[in-house]
Amino acid sequence: MGFDHTHSTPATCAVSDKLGRPLHDLRISVTDRCNLRCTYCMPEEHFGDKYPFLQRRDLLSFEEIVTVARAVASMGGVKLRLTGGEPLLRKNLSVLVAMLHDIPGIDDIALTTNGILLPQFAQELRDAGVRRVTISLDSLNEATFAKISGRPIKPTSVLEGIDAARAAGFGAVKVNAVIQKGVNDEDIVPLAAQFRGTGVVMRFIEFMDVGTLNGWNRKNVVTGAEMVARISERYPLEPIAPNYHGEVATRYRYTDGQGEVGFIQSVSQPFCGNCSRLRLAPNGELYTCLFGNQSHPLKPLFEDGADEDAVRDHIHSIWSGRKDRYSEIRTEHSASANRVEMYHIGG
Ligand code: GTP
Ligand code: 5AD
Ligand code: SF4
Ligand code: SF4
Repeated sequence: MGFDHTHSTPATCAVSDKLGRPLHDLRISVTDRCNLRCTYCMPEEHFGDKYPFLQRRDLLSFEEIVTVARAVASMGGVKLRLTGGEPLLRKNLSVLVAMLHDIPGIDDIALTTNGILLPQFAQELRDAGVRRVTISLDSLNEATFAKISGRPIKPTSVLEGIDAARAAGFGAVKVNAVIQKGVNDEDIVPLAAQFRGTGVVMRFIEFMDVGTLNGWNRKNVVTGAEMVARISERYPLEPIAPNYHGEVATRYRYTDGQGEVGFIQSVSQPFCGNCSRLRLAPNGELYTCLFGNQSHPLKPLFEDGADEDAVRDHIHSIWSGRKDRYSEIRTEHSASANRVEMYHIGG
Protein backbone atom coordinates (compact mmCIF):
# COMPACT_ATOMS: atom_id res chain seq x y z
CA MET A 1 0.00 0.00 0.00
CA GLY A 2 1.21 3.50 -0.74
CA PHE A 3 1.50 4.86 2.80
CA ASP A 4 3.40 4.23 5.97
CA HIS A 5 1.60 2.64 8.91
CA THR A 6 4.17 3.83 11.39
CA HIS A 7 2.68 7.31 11.01
CA SER A 8 -0.96 6.34 10.87
CA THR A 9 -2.34 8.82 13.39
CA PRO A 10 -5.54 10.57 12.25
CA ALA A 11 -5.30 12.40 8.91
CA THR A 12 -1.69 11.46 8.27
CA CYS A 13 -2.44 9.17 5.35
CA ALA A 14 -5.07 11.08 3.41
CA VAL A 15 -6.25 9.36 0.27
CA SER A 16 -7.50 10.77 -3.05
CA ASP A 17 -9.36 9.00 -5.80
CA LYS A 18 -8.54 8.88 -9.53
CA LEU A 19 -10.21 12.28 -10.01
CA GLY A 20 -8.30 13.87 -7.13
CA ARG A 21 -11.23 13.82 -4.68
CA PRO A 22 -10.35 13.24 -1.01
CA LEU A 23 -12.27 10.88 1.28
CA HIS A 24 -14.06 13.24 3.61
CA ASP A 25 -17.38 11.71 4.70
CA LEU A 26 -18.69 8.31 5.65
CA ARG A 27 -22.44 7.71 5.37
CA ILE A 28 -23.37 4.74 7.53
CA SER A 29 -26.65 2.94 6.90
CA VAL A 30 -27.42 1.08 10.12
CA THR A 31 -30.51 -0.87 9.01
CA ASP A 32 -32.39 -1.67 5.80
CA ARG A 33 -35.73 -1.60 7.65
CA CYS A 34 -38.17 1.29 7.74
CA ASN A 35 -41.49 2.12 9.38
CA LEU A 36 -42.64 3.92 6.19
CA ARG A 37 -43.03 2.67 2.62
CA CYS A 38 -42.27 5.72 0.49
CA THR A 39 -43.30 5.07 -3.09
CA TYR A 40 -39.92 6.22 -4.45
CA CYS A 41 -37.83 4.17 -2.03
CA MET A 42 -39.57 1.09 -0.58
CA PRO A 43 -42.82 0.70 -2.51
CA GLU A 44 -45.28 -1.42 -0.50
CA GLU A 45 -45.83 -3.84 -3.38
CA HIS A 46 -42.15 -4.86 -3.22
CA PHE A 47 -41.61 -4.55 0.53
CA GLY A 48 -44.50 -6.46 2.06
CA ASP A 49 -44.58 -8.65 5.21
CA LYS A 50 -42.52 -11.38 3.58
CA TYR A 51 -39.70 -9.19 2.29
CA PRO A 52 -36.33 -10.71 3.26
CA PHE A 53 -34.78 -7.84 5.18
CA LEU A 54 -31.31 -8.43 6.60
CA GLN A 55 -31.15 -10.60 9.70
CA ARG A 56 -29.27 -9.56 12.81
CA ARG A 57 -26.36 -11.87 11.99
CA ASP A 58 -25.94 -10.16 8.59
CA LEU A 59 -25.52 -6.69 10.12
CA LEU A 60 -22.16 -5.24 10.99
CA SER A 61 -21.78 -5.04 14.76
CA PHE A 62 -21.26 -1.65 16.43
CA GLU A 63 -17.59 -2.58 16.94
CA GLU A 64 -17.19 -3.34 13.23
CA ILE A 65 -18.88 -0.07 12.23
CA VAL A 66 -16.56 1.81 14.59
CA THR A 67 -13.54 0.07 13.04
CA VAL A 68 -14.63 1.27 9.59
CA ALA A 69 -15.21 4.81 10.89
CA ARG A 70 -11.81 4.85 12.62
CA ALA A 71 -10.14 3.70 9.42
CA VAL A 72 -11.90 6.44 7.45
CA ALA A 73 -10.98 9.04 10.10
CA SER A 74 -7.34 8.00 9.85
CA MET A 75 -7.43 8.78 6.12
CA GLY A 76 -8.82 12.28 6.63
CA GLY A 77 -12.54 11.56 7.05
CA VAL A 78 -14.12 14.04 9.43
CA LYS A 79 -17.89 13.72 8.88
CA LEU A 80 -20.23 10.86 9.64
CA ARG A 81 -23.90 10.60 8.74
CA LEU A 82 -26.15 7.86 10.08
CA THR A 83 -28.90 6.75 7.72
CA GLY A 84 -31.01 3.69 6.94
CA GLY A 85 -33.69 2.59 6.03
CA GLU A 86 -34.84 4.32 9.18
CA PRO A 87 -31.82 4.54 11.48
CA LEU A 88 -33.88 4.92 14.67
CA LEU A 89 -35.09 1.34 14.18
CA ARG A 90 -31.58 0.07 14.95
CA LYS A 91 -31.51 -1.03 18.58
CA ASN A 92 -29.34 1.04 20.93
CA LEU A 93 -28.40 3.54 18.22
CA SER A 94 -27.28 6.07 20.82
CA VAL A 95 -24.72 3.55 22.12
CA LEU A 96 -23.21 3.45 18.62
CA VAL A 97 -23.27 7.26 18.47
CA ALA A 98 -21.33 7.51 21.73
CA MET A 99 -18.74 5.06 20.39
CA LEU A 100 -18.38 7.05 17.14
CA HIS A 101 -18.19 10.31 19.08
CA ASP A 102 -15.03 9.07 20.80
CA ILE A 103 -13.10 8.61 17.54
CA PRO A 104 -10.23 11.11 17.18
CA GLY A 105 -10.61 13.23 14.05
CA ILE A 106 -14.40 12.96 13.69
CA ASP A 107 -15.81 16.46 14.10
CA ASP A 108 -19.39 16.02 12.88
CA ILE A 109 -22.00 13.32 13.41
CA ALA A 110 -25.30 13.87 11.60
CA LEU A 111 -28.46 11.80 11.27
CA THR A 112 -31.01 11.50 8.44
CA THR A 113 -34.38 10.18 9.70
CA ASN A 114 -38.08 10.21 8.84
CA GLY A 115 -38.64 11.75 12.27
CA ILE A 116 -41.46 9.49 13.47
CA LEU A 117 -39.45 8.13 16.40
CA LEU A 118 -37.65 11.36 17.31
CA PRO A 119 -39.98 12.25 20.20
CA GLN A 120 -38.69 9.05 21.82
CA PHE A 121 -35.00 9.28 20.88
CA ALA A 122 -33.99 12.88 20.08
CA GLN A 123 -32.60 13.78 23.49
CA GLU A 124 -30.57 10.64 24.05
CA LEU A 125 -29.08 10.92 20.55
CA ARG A 126 -28.16 14.55 21.16
CA ASP A 127 -26.62 13.64 24.51
CA ALA A 128 -24.65 10.79 22.91
CA GLY A 129 -23.08 13.15 20.36
CA VAL A 130 -25.29 13.60 17.28
CA ARG A 131 -24.66 17.22 16.27
CA ARG A 132 -27.15 17.72 13.41
CA VAL A 133 -30.42 16.13 12.31
CA THR A 134 -32.13 16.08 8.91
CA ILE A 135 -35.76 14.98 8.77
CA SER A 136 -37.59 13.89 5.62
CA LEU A 137 -41.03 15.45 5.06
CA ASP A 138 -42.46 15.48 1.53
CA SER A 139 -45.85 17.11 2.16
CA LEU A 140 -47.95 18.88 4.78
CA ASN A 141 -51.12 17.69 3.10
CA GLU A 142 -52.53 14.60 4.84
CA ALA A 143 -53.69 12.80 1.70
CA THR A 144 -50.47 13.51 -0.22
CA PHE A 145 -48.30 12.52 2.74
CA ALA A 146 -50.16 9.24 3.24
CA LYS A 147 -49.92 8.48 -0.47
CA ILE A 148 -46.17 9.12 -0.68
CA SER A 149 -45.23 7.53 2.63
CA GLY A 150 -47.33 4.43 2.02
CA ARG A 151 -48.54 4.29 5.63
CA PRO A 152 -51.57 5.77 7.41
CA ILE A 153 -49.44 8.32 9.23
CA LYS A 154 -50.16 12.04 9.38
CA PRO A 155 -47.59 14.75 8.64
CA THR A 156 -48.20 16.04 12.18
CA SER A 157 -46.28 12.97 13.46
CA VAL A 158 -43.25 14.20 11.54
CA LEU A 159 -43.81 17.77 12.76
CA GLU A 160 -43.77 16.41 16.31
CA GLY A 161 -40.43 14.76 15.52
CA ILE A 162 -39.10 18.07 14.19
CA ASP A 163 -40.25 19.83 17.38
CA ALA A 164 -38.55 17.15 19.49
CA ALA A 165 -35.31 17.71 17.53
CA ARG A 166 -35.53 21.47 18.07
CA ALA A 167 -36.16 20.99 21.77
CA ALA A 168 -33.19 18.62 22.10
CA GLY A 169 -30.82 21.41 21.01
CA PHE A 170 -29.12 20.03 17.90
CA GLY A 171 -26.66 22.36 16.17
CA ALA A 172 -28.83 22.29 13.06
CA VAL A 173 -32.23 20.89 12.13
CA LYS A 174 -32.98 20.51 8.41
CA VAL A 175 -36.02 19.17 6.59
CA ASN A 176 -35.70 17.33 3.24
CA ALA A 177 -38.50 17.05 0.68
CA VAL A 178 -38.12 15.02 -2.50
CA ILE A 179 -40.23 16.80 -5.12
CA GLN A 180 -42.00 14.88 -7.90
CA LYS A 181 -43.97 16.68 -10.59
CA GLY A 182 -47.69 16.01 -10.30
CA VAL A 183 -47.25 14.34 -6.90
CA ASN A 184 -46.10 17.01 -4.45
CA ASP A 185 -44.96 20.03 -6.44
CA GLU A 186 -47.96 21.90 -5.02
CA ASP A 187 -46.34 21.43 -1.62
CA ILE A 188 -43.19 23.43 -2.38
CA VAL A 189 -44.52 26.83 -1.27
CA PRO A 190 -46.45 25.53 1.80
CA LEU A 191 -43.34 23.65 3.00
CA ALA A 192 -41.23 26.78 2.53
CA ALA A 193 -43.85 28.80 4.45
CA GLN A 194 -44.00 26.27 7.29
CA PHE A 195 -40.31 26.62 8.15
CA ARG A 196 -39.60 30.22 7.16
CA GLY A 197 -38.55 32.19 10.20
CA THR A 198 -38.19 29.11 12.45
CA GLY A 199 -34.45 28.46 12.13
CA VAL A 200 -35.19 25.06 10.55
CA VAL A 201 -33.60 24.85 7.07
CA MET A 202 -36.00 23.51 4.43
CA ARG A 203 -34.31 21.69 1.53
CA PHE A 204 -35.92 20.65 -1.73
CA ILE A 205 -34.47 17.66 -3.55
CA GLU A 206 -34.77 16.93 -7.26
CA PHE A 207 -36.24 13.45 -7.70
CA MET A 208 -33.32 11.17 -8.62
CA ASP A 209 -33.08 7.94 -10.58
CA VAL A 210 -31.60 5.96 -7.70
CA GLY A 211 -32.23 2.24 -7.47
CA THR A 212 -34.45 0.31 -9.85
CA LEU A 213 -37.90 0.47 -8.26
CA ASN A 214 -39.06 4.08 -8.25
CA GLY A 215 -40.22 4.37 -11.88
CA TRP A 216 -38.06 7.45 -12.36
CA ASN A 217 -38.65 9.52 -15.44
CA ARG A 218 -36.94 12.80 -16.23
CA LYS A 219 -40.37 14.30 -16.92
CA ASN A 220 -41.21 13.97 -13.20
CA VAL A 221 -38.23 16.05 -12.11
CA VAL A 222 -38.89 19.61 -10.98
CA THR A 223 -35.55 21.39 -11.33
CA GLY A 224 -34.05 23.46 -8.54
CA ALA A 225 -34.30 26.53 -10.79
CA GLU A 226 -38.07 25.99 -11.17
CA MET A 227 -38.45 25.55 -7.42
CA VAL A 228 -36.50 28.73 -6.69
CA ALA A 229 -38.75 30.60 -9.12
CA ARG A 230 -41.92 29.23 -7.52
CA ILE A 231 -40.88 30.15 -3.99
CA SER A 232 -39.53 33.53 -5.07
CA GLU A 233 -42.91 34.56 -6.48
CA ARG A 234 -44.27 34.42 -2.96
CA TYR A 235 -41.15 34.93 -0.83
CA PRO A 236 -38.24 36.52 -2.74
CA LEU A 237 -34.96 34.62 -2.53
CA GLU A 238 -31.32 35.43 -3.21
CA PRO A 239 -28.36 33.04 -3.53
CA ILE A 240 -25.84 32.72 -0.69
CA ALA A 241 -22.41 31.08 -0.50
CA PRO A 242 -22.00 27.41 0.48
CA ASN A 243 -21.28 26.58 4.12
CA TYR A 244 -18.34 24.45 3.03
CA HIS A 245 -16.57 23.40 -0.16
CA GLY A 246 -18.52 20.63 -1.87
CA GLU A 247 -21.82 21.22 -0.05
CA VAL A 248 -24.55 19.15 -1.70
CA ALA A 249 -27.29 21.77 -1.32
CA THR A 250 -27.25 25.14 -3.10
CA ARG A 251 -28.27 27.76 -0.56
CA TYR A 252 -30.64 30.74 -0.86
CA ARG A 253 -31.94 33.19 1.72
CA TYR A 254 -35.21 35.03 2.03
CA THR A 255 -34.57 38.69 1.23
CA ASP A 256 -36.78 39.68 4.19
CA GLY A 257 -34.39 37.98 6.63
CA GLN A 258 -36.59 34.99 7.46
CA GLY A 259 -33.83 32.40 7.05
CA GLU A 260 -32.57 30.13 4.30
CA VAL A 261 -33.59 27.24 2.05
CA GLY A 262 -31.52 24.72 0.08
CA PHE A 263 -31.90 22.93 -3.24
CA ILE A 264 -30.27 19.61 -4.02
CA GLN A 265 -29.99 19.54 -7.79
CA SER A 266 -28.24 16.31 -8.56
CA VAL A 267 -30.17 15.91 -11.83
CA SER A 268 -29.95 19.44 -13.28
CA GLN A 269 -26.65 20.51 -11.65
CA PRO A 270 -24.59 17.42 -10.77
CA PHE A 271 -21.97 17.83 -8.06
CA CYS A 272 -19.76 14.77 -8.62
CA GLY A 273 -16.65 16.96 -8.99
CA ASN A 274 -16.65 17.49 -5.21
CA CYS A 275 -17.97 14.11 -4.14
CA SER A 276 -16.03 12.89 -1.16
CA ARG A 277 -18.59 10.45 0.26
CA LEU A 278 -18.09 6.78 0.99
CA ARG A 279 -21.22 4.77 1.83
CA LEU A 280 -21.44 1.78 4.15
CA ALA A 281 -24.48 -0.51 3.89
CA PRO A 282 -25.83 -2.29 7.01
CA ASN A 283 -24.30 -5.61 5.94
CA GLY A 284 -20.84 -4.12 5.52
CA GLU A 285 -20.85 -3.48 1.79
CA LEU A 286 -19.04 -0.30 0.77
CA TYR A 287 -20.25 1.79 -2.15
CA THR A 288 -18.28 4.63 -3.70
CA CYS A 289 -21.35 6.10 -5.46
CA LEU A 290 -25.05 6.43 -4.72
CA PHE A 291 -25.68 4.99 -8.15
CA GLY A 292 -23.15 2.22 -7.75
CA ASN A 293 -23.74 -1.28 -8.96
CA GLN A 294 -20.50 -2.56 -7.54
CA SER A 295 -20.14 -3.13 -3.83
CA HIS A 296 -17.04 -3.92 -1.83
CA PRO A 297 -17.99 -6.32 0.99
CA LEU A 298 -16.20 -5.98 4.31
CA LYS A 299 -17.83 -8.90 6.15
CA PRO A 300 -15.33 -11.45 4.77
CA LEU A 301 -12.46 -9.31 6.09
CA PHE A 302 -14.00 -9.13 9.54
CA GLU A 303 -14.65 -12.88 9.48
CA ASP A 304 -10.94 -13.35 8.82
CA GLY A 305 -10.19 -11.26 11.90
CA ALA A 306 -9.19 -8.03 10.11
CA ASP A 307 -8.15 -5.16 12.38
CA GLU A 308 -8.33 -1.42 11.74
CA ASP A 309 -5.07 -1.38 9.72
CA ALA A 310 -6.31 -4.10 7.40
CA VAL A 311 -9.65 -2.34 6.92
CA ARG A 312 -7.80 0.93 6.24
CA ASP A 313 -5.58 -0.74 3.62
CA HIS A 314 -8.67 -2.17 1.94
CA ILE A 315 -10.56 1.14 1.90
CA HIS A 316 -7.43 2.97 0.77
CA SER A 317 -7.16 0.72 -2.26
CA ILE A 318 -10.90 1.00 -3.05
CA TRP A 319 -10.85 4.81 -2.79
CA SER A 320 -7.59 5.12 -4.77
CA GLY A 321 -9.25 3.34 -7.68
CA ARG A 322 -12.50 5.31 -7.60
CA LYS A 323 -13.70 7.08 -10.76
CA ASP A 324 -17.46 7.45 -10.10
CA ARG A 325 -19.30 10.50 -11.42
CA TYR A 326 -22.64 9.02 -12.31
CA SER A 327 -24.77 12.18 -12.11
CA GLU A 328 -22.46 13.92 -14.55
CA ILE A 329 -22.69 11.15 -17.11
CA ARG A 330 -26.22 9.85 -16.50
CA THR A 331 -27.42 10.87 -19.96
CA GLU A 332 -24.85 8.51 -21.46
CA HIS A 333 -26.24 5.58 -19.46
CA SER A 334 -29.53 3.79 -19.35
CA ALA A 335 -30.65 2.50 -15.95
CA SER A 336 -28.48 -0.37 -14.82
CA ALA A 337 -30.45 -3.40 -13.68
CA ASN A 338 -28.42 -4.22 -10.58
CA ARG A 339 -28.02 -0.74 -9.19
CA VAL A 340 -28.08 -0.43 -5.39
CA GLU A 341 -31.41 0.57 -3.80
CA MET A 342 -31.74 3.75 -1.74
CA TYR A 343 -33.06 2.00 1.40
CA HIS A 344 -29.83 -0.04 1.46
CA ILE A 345 -27.42 2.90 1.53
CA GLY A 346 -29.60 5.70 2.83
CA GLY A 347 -29.16 8.37 0.19
P1 GTP B 1 -25.20 18.14 4.97
O1 GTP B 1 -24.81 19.07 3.86
O2 GTP B 1 -24.03 17.60 5.72
O3 GTP B 1 -26.22 18.72 5.89
O4 GTP B 1 -25.89 16.82 4.40
P2 GTP B 1 -26.41 16.27 3.03
O5 GTP B 1 -27.21 17.31 2.35
O6 GTP B 1 -25.26 15.67 2.31
O7 GTP B 1 -27.29 15.02 3.51
P3 GTP B 1 -28.72 14.43 3.32
O8 GTP B 1 -28.71 13.06 3.85
O9 GTP B 1 -29.74 15.32 3.90
O10 GTP B 1 -28.89 14.36 1.75
C1 GTP B 1 -29.76 15.17 1.06
C2 GTP B 1 -30.06 14.60 -0.32
O11 GTP B 1 -28.91 14.68 -1.12
C3 GTP B 1 -30.52 13.15 -0.31
O12 GTP B 1 -31.58 12.97 -1.23
C4 GTP B 1 -29.31 12.43 -0.76
O13 GTP B 1 -29.64 11.25 -1.40
C5 GTP B 1 -28.69 13.44 -1.71
N1 GTP B 1 -27.26 13.21 -1.77
C6 GTP B 1 -26.39 13.22 -0.72
N2 GTP B 1 -25.17 12.91 -1.15
C7 GTP B 1 -25.27 12.70 -2.48
C8 GTP B 1 -24.34 12.31 -3.48
O14 GTP B 1 -23.18 12.08 -3.21
N3 GTP B 1 -24.82 12.18 -4.75
C9 GTP B 1 -26.09 12.41 -5.08
N4 GTP B 1 -26.44 12.27 -6.35
N5 GTP B 1 -27.01 12.75 -4.16
C10 GTP B 1 -26.60 12.89 -2.89
N1 5AD C 1 -34.49 11.06 -5.13
C1 5AD C 1 -34.07 12.02 -4.26
N2 5AD C 1 -33.99 11.84 -2.94
C2 5AD C 1 -34.34 10.66 -2.45
N3 5AD C 1 -34.39 10.20 -1.18
C3 5AD C 1 -34.80 8.92 -1.22
N4 5AD C 1 -35.04 8.52 -2.49
C4 5AD C 1 -34.77 9.60 -3.28
C5 5AD C 1 -34.83 9.84 -4.68
N5 5AD C 1 -35.23 8.91 -5.56
C6 5AD C 1 -34.08 11.04 -0.01
C7 5AD C 1 -34.92 10.77 1.20
C8 5AD C 1 -34.09 11.37 2.30
C9 5AD C 1 -32.67 11.30 1.77
C10 5AD C 1 -31.72 10.51 2.54
O1 5AD C 1 -32.78 10.78 0.46
O2 5AD C 1 -36.16 11.41 1.15
O3 5AD C 1 -34.42 12.70 2.57
FE1 SF4 D 1 -38.08 4.96 4.78
FE2 SF4 D 1 -36.70 7.14 4.10
FE3 SF4 D 1 -37.10 5.19 2.31
FE4 SF4 D 1 -39.16 6.69 3.09
S1 SF4 D 1 -37.32 7.40 1.97
S2 SF4 D 1 -39.16 4.42 2.89
S3 SF4 D 1 -38.66 7.08 5.23
S4 SF4 D 1 -35.92 5.00 4.20
FE1 SF4 E 1 -20.95 11.19 -5.78
FE2 SF4 E 1 -22.00 9.33 -7.34
FE3 SF4 E 1 -23.52 11.31 -6.30
FE4 SF4 E 1 -21.75 11.82 -8.24
S1 SF4 E 1 -23.57 10.55 -8.41
S2 SF4 E 1 -22.11 13.04 -6.39
S3 SF4 E 1 -20.10 10.41 -7.67
S4 SF4 E 1 -22.46 9.68 -5.15
